[in-house]
Amino acid sequence: MDRAQTSDSKMGSSLPFDFALTDGRACVLRLITEDDAAELLEFLPQTHAESDFLNYLPGEFQMTLEQEREFIRDHTDKHGAIALVAIVDGRIIACGGASPLKFKRHSHHTEVGLAVLKAFWHQGVGRTMMTWLVEWGRLIGLRKMRLAVFASNTRAIGLYESLGFVEEGRLRRDVQLSDGSYGDTFLMAKFYEA
Ligand SMILES: CC(C)(COP(=O)(O)OP(=O)(O)OC[C@H]1O[C@@H](n2cnc3c(N)ncnc32)[C@H](O)[C@@H]1OP(=O)(O)O)[C@@H](O)C(=O)NCCC(=O)NCCS
Repeated sequence: MDRAQTSDSKMGSSLPFDFALTDGRACVLRLITEDDAAELLEFLPQTHAESDFLNYLPGEFQMTLEQEREFIRDHTDKHGAIALVAIVDGRIIACGGASPLKFKRHSHHTEVGLAVLKAFWHQGVGRTMMTWLVEWGRLIGLRKMRLAVFASNTRAIGLYESLGFVEEGRLRRDVQLSDGSYGDTFLMAKFYEA
């Protein structure tokens, strides 16, 4: 794992990483541990209920505590995998990470995702977490970092574009939104210099 690494960049990839929210509160970015599993089982459904931009519908997420622990174990000490939480006042307020793809032909890239509790949107958490993940990807030697985002999620797309992600493709009428309409999904990727 790359938790102890640092880089020439401003942020580096050392964890825990302390920063201040826009409103001044202290926030810490750290690796997920198995001890977070129970809290994540409450956090994740809350993010699904608060946003129309995540794949899970409210109530659809049915992981057990053991499955959640297994997911966390699976995202530890494996190339291209990492899972992070952002903590404010001892509580998980955001979660993000990267999952490697199945085949070795894809081992130069990984897929990232993140979610922030609505009460903490617009406070710089998403940008800090994504910036950290992009730098982590560089340090472990990735050539590409990819993600999928609903085309209507303009805030997230703006964030990704500002970090160097470009659109690779579009899945048309890919997801049904809560108003019943069908929306496209953008496939985006950031390419690292060789
Ligand atoms: C998308 C999401 C991760 C952004 O996280 P966040 O912590 O709110 O984002 P930040 O505060 O770091 O802001 C990121 C960017 O969003 C935009 N933004 C922030 N506040 C905004 C506002 N009030 N109005 C419009 N755009 C805004 C800006 O582009 C900002 O970039 P900046 O740092 O240059 O200001 C978060 O809203 C979220 O979890 N949404 C629901 C789940 C989701 O959509 N996940 C992504 C799936 S691909």
